[in-house]
This record gives sequence, structure tokens and C-alpha cells, in this order.
Amino acid sequence: MDIRFTETVLRDANQSLIATRMPFEAFAPILQTLDKAGYYSLECWGGATFDSCLRYLDEDPWERLRKIRKACPETKLQMLLRGQNLLGYKHYPDDAVKLFVRKSVENGIDVIRIFDALNDLRNIEVAVGTALECGAQVQGAICYTISPIHDLDSYVKTAEGLKAMGVQSVCIKDMAGILSPKQAYDTVKAIKEAVGLPVVLHTHSTTGLGFMTLLKAVEAGADVIDTAISCFSGGTAQPATETMDYVLREYGHETGLDTKKLKEINDFFKPYRAKCLDSGLLNPVVMATATDALTYQIPGGMLSNLVAQLTAQGKLEKLDEVLCEVPNVRKDMGYPPLVTPMSQMVGVQATSNVLTGRYKNISKEIKAYVKGEYGRAPGEISDELKQLCLGGEQPITCRYADLLEPAVEKTRKELGDKATCDEDVLSYIAFPQLAEKFFDAREERKTKTFAYTIREIGEDKA
Ligand code: CO
Repeated sequence: MDIRFTETVLRDANQSLIATRMPFEAFAPILQTLDKAGYYSLECWGGATFDSCLRYLDEDPWERLRKIRKACPETKLQMLLRGQNLLGYKHYPDDAVKLFVRKSVENGIDVIRIFDALNDLRNIEVAVGTALECGAQVQGAICYTISPIHDLDSYVKTAEGLKAMGVQSVCIKDMAGILSPKQAYDTVKAIKEAVGLPVVLHTHSTTGLGFMTLLKAVEAGADVIDTAISCFSGGTAQPATETMDYVLREYGHETGLDTKKLKEINDFFKPYRAKCLDSGLLNPVVMATATDALTYQIPGGMLSNLVAQLTAQGKLEKLDEVLCEVPNVRKDMGYPPLVTPMSQMVGVQATSNVLTGRYKNISKEIKAYVKGEYGRAPGEISDELKQLCLGGEQPITCRYADLLEPAVEKTRKELGDKATCDEDVLSYIAFPQLAEKFFDAREERKTKTFAYTIREIGEDKA
């Protein structure tokens, strides 16, 4: 009765509670303890960490990964990858996806969790195939959502599709924290029975369901659960590691976790958490239990975005109307899971429909979606929306990335000396402006250090 844990403090909890602003130095001293605590894996890279390293922290994301690897030789390092979107929001050509996956593994990643926002498996096949070739463990993730067309059968079908692609485990990814204990139990059981692969459960504590959901998932046979060390747990992050460890041990499970080490890890992060609270980086709002998401069956983050949008336009009194329009827009779009970027697209369109009239303005993202540039919609797109967005043209039925020109060689040439390695080329392909800014700052630092060294040597001689 083994149940293993993936610790999310370095990635998802960091992202969900403090907008991924934790610099490497903030957690460097505890890495060796994390390595020895008995986790199945440490989720430490991918998601927004890459973007945030370049954008806010002046860190090379690749170097961060290598440093974590060096400090954690024993525990598997895990990343989150958005399939053909890599770590961004647009589709990248296959050569970039292949090189990115290969370099992630070369720099230290063991487990890659790969998903597509629409559960369109064509959008993850290149990433999955490459990761398998590189010897990584591939976790195929299914985005969990609630809609009239998403049911147990549809999730089982997706899981079977993932198995056919060769993934070693299946993750049920509940990014919104709306997976109930009952649904978790049924879904884990159905998927395990159908595909016989290890099942991982990922949820968030946003609506307060988290602990119960994880417990029922384990009862149904889940093999790995995602949790966050307690002082970085709860709210929009994951349920607490120590609490789940305590409960599951009592039920006779072997977790493999070292409770003393867990305490050490939690004690280590406490002062950092206090600092984040003081500076306002950690807002108590994200740590609260927010059940509105259950009523509206939309993610908490989307709800707060809608409130912010309407407040900015002085139209907060329209919130109820917008919330009624969200399911209509979603239905017209064929029920995409409300995960980034779909949640933003649906929210903006619903707001516009209420404020300026139904589909008077249609965002270019929605037009691209209807054209098929994000992949296949889970259900049928409404005739009205097709008419408005396609204007008689045929939508794309192939995989969108098949239409993209290769990027790696071209970018290598374009960057010349600015890129010191393929990792630089990939940073640039993923986030061109951010990477360029980072390269310039790095160059400046180098020049400064060089001048300083010369002066020091000069002074020594004198
Ligand atoms: Co998450």
C-alpha cells in the first residue's frame, strides 16, 4: 500500500501563492534536505518558472535546473510542459519542441508531465515521443473540467490515448481545484481499471476540496499525489504534505517520507513565508478557501480576473450577467477546459458580449481558436460562432504545428554570438524579448567582472 508524494513548493505552490517569484537563493540551502526527505519527485521546473526567471529574477532558468540537479542527486526532478506550447501560450514548431525536451532532460529533468489545454493529444505527441526517446519518464496529463460533454468515458478515452502514446503514468490535472472527492474516486478507479498505469492526482486547495479529494483518490488506488510543504500549502496551492502524510500513515500506507526532514523543510520556509507576507508578495486572499468557484464551476483565478476586468471598467454591477454568459460562450466554443489560455479567452469574450452585445466584437484569439489553431475543440463549435469567425473559410483540420516553419537553425544564425549554447537559443525562441534582455544583462555583468579582475590583478602586482 505504497503512496508516493510529489512536492510542489518549488514550482506550483511557488507559482500559485507568490507568482513564481521565489529566487534560487531562497531555497538553495534546503535542497539537500528536500533530496533526502523521501519524495517521489520534486516538481521544480517548467510552468511559469522559466518565464519568471528571465522576466523578474535575472536568473538563467537552465542554470537554475542544473544547480537543483547538483544539490539533489537522489530524488527525481519533475517539470510541467504544455505540449506543443512548451512553456508559453503559442504553438512552437516541432524542431523547437524536440530540442527543448532534449535539453530539459540533459540539464537534469527526470519526469516530464505533459498536457494540452484542450486534451487534444496531437498537441503533445511530439513532446511525448521525444521525451521517451531521451529516456525521461513521461506523465501524460488530462485536464479535468466540468461540462456536459466531459464525463468518465471521455477521461478514460483520453487516458487510453495517452497509454497508446507510450506514457508511463497518467496524471489527472485539476488546475482549478474543482475535482470533488467523489469524482476523484470514480475517475481514478475508471482510469486505473482501463489502462493499468500508475495514476497521479494533481489538485489545488482553492475551493477546500483538496484534502478530501486526495484521500478519496488514494482510496481509489492513486499511486502519487501532489502536495506542498505546509507553510506553502493551501488556498490556491496544493494541500499540505505533512497533513496527507499523517493521515495516510494512519490508514496503513507507506509514504516513504521522513517526517523529521519534512519538519526541517517547513521550518526552513517559515521565515521566507513571513517575509513574503510582510512585503505583500503573499496575499492572504490566495490562502483563503473560495467556494464561489464551485457554484460557477469556473476556476477561482478566472473569477478574480472577471471581477478585476469589470472593476477597471466601472461595471462591477454586471458581474452576475457576465457569470451567466460564461457558460454560453463556453458552449459556443465546444466546452474547452477552463485552463490558461482558454479561461482568459472565454472570460474576455463573455465580458464583451455583456458590455457591447453578443459577439459584436470577437477577439483574435477566439477567431484563431475557431479556425483550429489551438487544436480540436472538445465538442461542437456553434454554427453562429463558426459563421462569424470563419466567414465561409474552412477551418484547419491538421495539427497546427504542421503548418509552422522550423525555428532552431534560423534562430541560431540570427543570434550569432549572443547565444552561448542551445539553451540560450531555446530561451530566445520561447521568450524573445525577455531572453534578449537577460543576455544583455549577462554580458554587462561579465564585462564588469572582467574589468574588476584585471584591476585586482593589477593591484596585486603593485
Ligand atoms: Co496546478
